[in-house]
Amino acid sequence: MNLALFASGTGSNVKNIIDFFKKNETINIVLVVSNNSSAGALIHAKNNDIEQLAIDKAILNESIPICETLHELEVELVVLAGFLLKIPEKFISNFKGKIINLHPSLLPKFGGKGMYGNNVHKAVLGAKEKKTGITIHFVNENYDEGAIIDQFETALSNKDDLDTIVEKIKKLEKLYFPPTIERLIHKL
Ligand code: GAR
Repeated sequence: MNLALFASGTGSNVKNIIDFFKKNETINIVLVVSNNSSAGALIHAKNNDIEQLAIDKAILNESIPICETLHELEVELVVLAGFLLKIPEKFISNFKGKIINLHPSLLPKFGGKGMYGNNVHKAVLGAKEKKTGITIHFVNENYDEGAIIDQFETALSNKDDLDTIVEKIKKLEKLYFPPTIERLIHKL
């Protein structure tokens, strides 16, 4: 099973996934894609001898060439690990049921356009939520609305601030995202 990881930023999740599957003989990360040519995610890929691809919004929106690249590499699952651009419908229909996303809240709360990274955590703080967490879900045409695969939560108190929420979410992501991908692959 070949996976492609898409990421836009520092790439801590890309690193976690690469490390988790490093010794796996059947699940291979064959490509890391980013819309940011200086993304940490691409550096993690390079350090692990994984092919890297920097794309821009126009290439993503064109969809067919990038889908062809993924098919040539026999990619069967596309994992959005902190990827902030919307996946176009053409792309989704080429990889039906084979694109998943990590979102740093308990969807359906705090999802949708503009809800990414710290924007999500600030909204969670502002709403005085008693808990937050992560959601791993299939990607459909609407931001953060695809079928939920799994969710993991963490308690919040009035002592929490942006830094502690980020830390709690990163902990959940490291602990649960890679094994959830593995469990899903075994079901596909
Ligand atoms: C992660 O917390 C991920 O859940 C979030 O971006 C961060 C990327 O961190 N994704 C979204 O907000 C998607 N809507 P990373 O670059 O260190 O993996």
